[in-house]
Amino acid sequence: MSQIELRPGLADVPVAESAVSFIDGKNARLEYRGIAVETLATQSCFEETAYLLLKGNLPTQKELADFDDQLRHHRRIKFRLTDLIKCLPETGHPMYALQATVAAMGMFYPARDVSNAKCNWESVVRLIAKMPTAVAAFHRIRHGDEPIKPRDDLDHAGNFYWMLFEKEPSPAIRKVIDACLVLHAEHTMNASTFSGRVTASTLANPYTVISAAVGTLTGPLHGGANEEVLTMLDEIGDIKNVRVWCEDAIANKKKIMGFGHRVYKVKDPRATVLQELADRVFIDTGKPAKYDLAVEMEKVMAEKLGPKGIYPNVDFYSGIVYEALGIQPDLFTPIFAIARVAGWLAHWLEQLQGNRIYRPEQIYVGKNNAPYVPLAKRA
Ligand code: SDX
Repeated sequence: MSQIELRPGLADVPVAESAVSFIDGKNARLEYRGIAVETLATQSCFEETAYLLLKGNLPTQKELADFDDQLRHHRRIKFRLTDLIKCLPETGHPMYALQATVAAMGMFYPARDVSNAKCNWESVVRLIAKMPTAVAAFHRIRHGDEPIKPRDDLDHAGNFYWMLFEKEPSPAIRKVIDACLVLHAEHTMNASTFSGRVTASTLANPYTVISAAVGTLTGPLHGGANEEVLTMLDEIGDIKNVRVWCEDAIANKKKIMGFGHRVYKVKDPRATVLQELADRVFIDTGKPAKYDLAVEMEKVMAEKLGPKGIYPNVDFYSGIVYEALGIQPDLFTPIFAIARVAGWLAHWLEQLQGNRIYRPEQIYVGKNNAPYVPLAKRA
């Protein structure tokens, strides 16, 4: 029997043909449907980018206005979903609350027939529109406050900020949040997208697909790294400790959060844009000492691990931006999810075209023909 070669982590193994996004990891290039992410972050907005990802082309003015209307219309969540969120422990991580809420949405909105394009589109709109409401509701409730109702007169980014803080963001802060959502909206066949596509390939309902993807995003090797970066910077504490801390971590083969990427062997282009956004936020909020520490860390890491192609990824600077906006660290990954749901759903729709269930092979390394020893005779 011919031996199949094992590729740990499926490195370099294509699992689908996709037209959603493209990465050139040597040249720091990321495109959504062919358009550079930097262009979208500066010139587009989250609603338009989500439409682009989902439909494959930029919307006309009317198409964008219609899509935007649909999103605004579907922001509210059912009071029984809010009741469900109230029952979750306030000490639980908001990502687990989000995963549970998204899974529960599948019980409120029947969507079992995934061959129905109209029904699928309704699910797309509901998921993108309601996930920010669910995250903000859990955040408010865990602090003993009533959730803040979404506002139809604010855009996606502005409304999320409103639901967290009950105040409108300044235009500059709104733009920064919007750009962060654009930057996180999609990223080829990452772990959570793959997990969503595997679930989609069974023809499971879209809420199950997205809750699987949310769960996969929680891990510190993936979306969870943005929260861990801040913990790491707090642990380092002072710019003068950076070099020794990095040398020690490398000597002890520790994974340094916010660095390295399977595809990028240069600095992640999103990290570059996030750094520019940080500079913009600091005009309003003042520059935190943590930022200088992070910049120093990037310098030391380039010297130590740059030759191995390990540079900052998207998660390195995002937390510093969010913290400067007054957002609590355990909300960083949920914000990632609120953005990435657009990409997950684009992949869900793509997976349904010419679907075949994922069923890979394994290399069996266990025993064969083992005897069953009766319990009484076992040593
Ligand atoms: C995201 O895939 C995506 O597209 C994800 C994402 C998206 O938008 O969806 O971009 C979002 O998940 C960003 C990544 C967030 N995670 C982290 O910041 C955690 C720290 N980074 C790593 O653990 C790691 O770099 C990964 C998980 C991101 C990538 O893992 P790989 O490709 O499996 O690489 P590896 O762990 O096999 O590392 C290869 C080598 C190893 O050294 P050697 O054993 O060959 O000597 O590089 C070293 C690793 O030890 N290495 C690191 C390192 N990352 C890689 N060493 C120290 N610190 C690191 N961060």
